[in-house]
Amino acid sequence: MILVTGGAGFIGANFVLDWLAAHDEPVLNLDKLTYAGNLENLASLANDKRHVFVQGDIGDRALMDALLTKHQPRAVVNFAAESHVDRSIHGPEDFIQTNIVGTFHLLEAVRGYFGKLEGAAKTNFRFLHVSTDEVYGSLAPNEPCFTEKHQYEPNSPYSASKAASDHLVRAYHHTYGLPVLTTNCSNNYGPYHFPEKLIPLMIVNALAGKNLPIYGDGQQIRDWLYVKDHASAIRRVLEAGKPGETYNVGGWNEKPNVEIVNTICKLLNELQPRADGKSYAEQITYVTDRAGHDRRYAIDASKIEKELGWKPAETFESGIQKTVAWYLSHADWVANVQNGSYREWVNKQYAN
Ligand code: NAD
Ligand code: TYD
Repeated sequence: MILVTGGAGFIGANFVLDWLAAHDEPVLNLDKLTYAGNLENLASLANDKRHVFVQGDIGDRALMDALLTKHQPRAVVNFAAESHVDRSIHGPEDFIQTNIVGTFHLLEAVRGYFGKLEGAAKTNFRFLHVSTDEVYGSLAPNEPCFTEKHQYEPNSPYSASKAASDHLVRAYHHTYGLPVLTTNCSNNYGPYHFPEKLIPLMIVNALAGKNLPIYGDGQQIRDWLYVKDHASAIRRVLEAGKPGETYNVGGWNEKPNVEIVNTICKLLNELQPRADGKSYAEQITYVTDRAGHDRRYAIDASKIEKELGWKPAETFESGIQKTVAWYLSHADWVANVQNGSYREWVNKQYAN
């Protein structure tokens, strides 16, 4: 089996669902169930014996030791993290705790487990760390996309904590010979995306008749990848990646935020028009910019394409269409995640 951490969050849940659709190999899913973790994302696996869920913290060394010893996974895929830049600006501590200290404890547990493996179990073992393009910092408009050799220049507490975890993972390979793989992916979107992030927030706010808050001038650029393409990239890296290597993952889809929001409004105008016949774009509101807002991210995905033959299946146009349709048909999921703590966050973040 494989051990997945953070598998009740947005990307982790999509990965687990896709993994079990493609493989019969069981998944042990360890997740702390923070505000971002939601077992409803995995509801379709309720009676599936191939999926074993454990609530817990990657930083709980005794728990991780016990799980590794009991289940003897052939690989660990680490999604567990605090992931929202705006929350890291309001309060960085949880980011330091989970993304740095938690990853350290997880690495220690895995190092102990790996040290006791023998023969093929040892040769084939992998630790795959899921990271982000944000560790590379911000690009000027005409600079080339991030390659794996781009220097680390993280600018937010979130990206700094992810960068620190990447460095620890790298060090465990060089120092202890742990067979690690690191993926640095661009911005994801798709089903089960928590509506604090740009794309789901805009869909959910539009349908609720609320403002669509665009930070600053809205010309910041992100490089968007449909979440299931990220899942397929991770499966491919786990299967064929070279230990010690990092792989940048992206779909060559750079778009300014304002264009993303307008695309969502256009799709909603077609699929669920406003009662007054006006465009959802009327709800767009420009708000105070994010502190330290990175201007542009863009991934050069040549390495994973050439060395591992991976390619995304979706274009941005097909992926965003599927995403908007998914939110329209999952009003219950949206209502359930918008609990008290969600409303508190939205009130705090968008108070002005
Ligand atoms: P998410 O916030 O939706 O989910 C994170 C999950 O981790 C949640 O289920 C949460 O309960 C769990 N978790 C948090 N702290 C934990 C802990 N201490 N122990 C165990 N579980 C814990 O995040 P996501 O968007 O699914 O991102 C998953 C990973 O992918 C993260 O490492 C993130 O940095 C990385 N990533 C995200 C994106 C993106 O666009 N969302 C892009 C590239 C990389
Ligand atoms: P986000 O989804 O938070 O991802 P990240 O900051 O990790 O890239 O934000 C994507 C972009 O959208 C980013 O440039 C910030 C911007 N944004 C807004 O303009 N308004 C919002 O309400 C949010 C949440 C994000």
